[in-house]
Amino acid sequence: MNYGYFDNEKREYVIDVPETPYPWINYFGLENFFSLFSNTGSGYCFYKDARLRRLLRYRYNDVPATSTGRYFYIKDGGEIYNIAKYPAKTPLDSYECRHGLGYSKISSSKNGVETSQLAYVPLGINAEVHVINFKNTTDSLKNLKLFSYFEFCLWDALDDQTNFQRNYSIGQVEVEDNFIFHVTEYRERRNHYAYMWSNCDIAGFDTDRESFLGLYNGLESPKAVCEGASANSIAHGWAPIASQSVEVSIAPGTEKEIIFVLGYEKNAEEDKFKEGEPNFEKAYKSALTFKREDIVKIQLIELKRYWDDVLSNYNLESSDDKLNTMINIWNQYQCMVTFHMSRSASFFESGVGRGMGFRDSNQDILGFVHQIPKKARERLIDIAATQFKDGSVYHQYQPLTKKGNADIGGGFNDDPLWLILSVITYIKESGDFAILSEKVKYEDKPDGTMKDHLFASFKHVVNNKGPHGLPLIGRADWNDCLNLNAHSTKPGESFQTHGTADGRVAESVMIAGLFIYVAEMMEELLKKTGDSKGEKYVRKESQKVVEAVNLHGWDGEWFVRAYDAYGAPIGSKECDEGKIFIESQGWCVMAGIGLDDGRAKKAIDSVEKILETEQGIVLQQPPYLTYHENLGEISSYPPGYKENAGIFCHNNSWITCAQAKLGMGDAAFRTYSKIAPAYIKDQKLHKTEPYVYSQMIAGRDAATFGEAKNSWLTGTASWCFVAASQWILGIYPEFDGLKIDPCLPEHLKEYTIKRKFRGTQYAIHVSNPNNAQKGVKEIKIDGEIVVGNIIPILDKAEVMVEVTM
Ligand code: BGC
Repeated sequence: MNYGYFDNEKREYVIDVPETPYPWINYFGLENFFSLFSNTGSGYCFYKDARLRRLLRYRYNDVPATSTGRYFYIKDGGEIYNIAKYPAKTPLDSYECRHGLGYSKISSSKNGVETSQLAYVPLGINAEVHVINFKNTTDSLKNLKLFSYFEFCLWDALDDQTNFQRNYSIGQVEVEDNFIFHVTEYRERRNHYAYMWSNCDIAGFDTDRESFLGLYNGLESPKAVCEGASANSIAHGWAPIASQSVEVSIAPGTEKEIIFVLGYEKNAEEDKFKEGEPNFEKAYKSALTFKREDIVKIQLIELKRYWDDVLSNYNLESSDDKLNTMINIWNQYQCMVTFHMSRSASFFESGVGRGMGFRDSNQDILGFVHQIPKKARERLIDIAATQFKDGSVYHQYQPLTKKGNADIGGGFNDDPLWLILSVITYIKESGDFAILSEKVKYEDKPDGTMKDHLFASFKHVVNNKGPHGLPLIGRADWNDCLNLNAHSTKPGESFQTHGTADGRVAESVMIAGLFIYVAEMMEELLKKTGDSKGEKYVRKESQKVVEAVNLHGWDGEWFVRAYDAYGAPIGSKECDEGKIFIESQGWCVMAGIGLDDGRAKKAIDSVEKILETEQGIVLQQPPYLTYHENLGEISSYPPGYKENAGIFCHNNSWITCAQAKLGMGDAAFRTYSKIAPAYIKDQKLHKTEPYVYSQMIAGRDAATFGEAKNSWLTGTASWCFVAASQWILGIYPEFDGLKIDPCLPEHLKEYTIKRKFRGTQYAIHVSNPNNAQKGVKEIKIDGEIVVGNIIPILDKAEVMVEVTM
């Protein structure tokens, strides 16, 4: 069963019922102010940091699924309803939600009145805008009452939901004309405030939740709305809200528009007060912007232009509409969102926990860097500065303070390597070799350049190897749930921090594959920059790990996954459960191990035979049925969920890449399309948003095989974009130009890619008359045949490329 469809013309996803199998959300914000907004308006917003500067309260894991949000109630005579149906639940005559790039619009109709709520975060202002439009399609005058309802969070979202004995007494607001200011702690320790403003004459307001709702009414039937009048309440502690009521009178056949702005402002210490009172000048100024008649139109055009520009860096025209939808719109959009959010705020990530993960943020750059290389550069410098001189890194860091998260610490031994991958990917995209000499401090030392950081990352593996000469795993590698040194036996112990990071026995074959892969990139970089000593060193160290994998990483039919703290193999035919894992197959093949002697092909054949299902490839088989203290969290999940044999979408993309490396075009595309949202067949079963990737889909050992969880914030977004745009469609940014090396499925006979690269606009037309899965026969640049498959950097505005497979 389906609940919506793509409108590619408008770059929107259209949802036609409010009761989706889970709230289907969208994100707004491109700078510092971000919002999460569901198809019924639930969600919240924050300035920079979802934990420390949250403007609106959101109750996670609440019932009904869509509870806290920004709601607009309409009172029409004796009836009350919401534009998005909820929370009032009054049946509507029609409903539609369009999620677009950086905005959403919910439209509905009731009793002859068409209403809509258009919500977005404009460029250049730290605010969320809600434009409410009414159209009277009846023959008589309509007199309605409109009530807005927003519940403030007392800034620190964790404290807000835990420290009630204090928080029920600190909430403060101020009301001035059509402004409501949320000023909790402003007079004491904060320099920031939130405000709610509307552009019309208001009939009344409420700032105290209980006065508006009534303590026992709930959001379904707020007291003020039922009575048809705001109570003009001022919150003294308890739960401050922003609600304004407006009398709306609409003549037959006419429309009315009302704008509500929820904003954030901060003042310099010396400007905090004016004549002893909080200084709200900045809010007045922002609100003034909205007095312009056509402001909404202008702001939406600006947003559209922003996206036109970003998406024009990579555009595909092909006969596969679903592929076009993914590549040109939704996958790139998700990459932008994961770049901004990392794993902090979604409907599955509470915004108080994981912040910006080191490995996550580095990988997010891979699918984002071609969009805005400059922003990727800033992020790389922030991330690298949380590295220690010995190459180890903080596992997470805070976007507001840019400091590492000491609660989790470090010890995840794959982490440092992702920095090498992301920095070199950035250089290949931008040509900015200067980043290598950029001064970037270490967490524990003031000196260092970016190049030093790359070497520190590399040496961290070189200096931390185990008994088989393979990289030590530390707390865990990419698979955060394979905790080989935790040995946790008590409930409540965190698998991420329990035990030791310093185990000298447990090793990871996946880190080995990743190390060899990034070593090759590093060698190429060092060669390019004339550092032959460095190049030789990297090659030598990489070769040692290749030998270790050859000796101890091959199991006969596939690559071993790891060795536990007792030196026993994991992901081997010797094991009863977890005989084969996906990650080491992907990474060892991508690293080129066993390409020449058939092992790489054999490993991928084993993946297809043992791990592949119709919904995607599961992480390992057979699943763990009991808890294994030597393995940790992975065996604590029921079979088929998460890392315990779930379809963990992120690593499916590595198999796509590995299959492409082997020239298996049909197989690579099959792996890609099994998890790509546009190809989802049953949205009801899939449950989460059908326009973005989810972290995982329940595997075939689960009771709910095919059901997805943890949508939006996943490395799947970046990796699937890389897998499709580079490994399948074959356009690889390299130091000296664009490499063309497609690996194609049978149905892609020809396509055109418009790619902006280092200031030149390329139109690359690929045709495959011979049905080749791999292998470029000829490339013509502006009509001239070239040798090899690299399109060099040309000093031209536009270049036409003709590729024949
Ligand atoms: C984490 C990643 C991790 C992955 C696999 C995700 O939830 O954010 O850092 O690599 O799970 O365990």
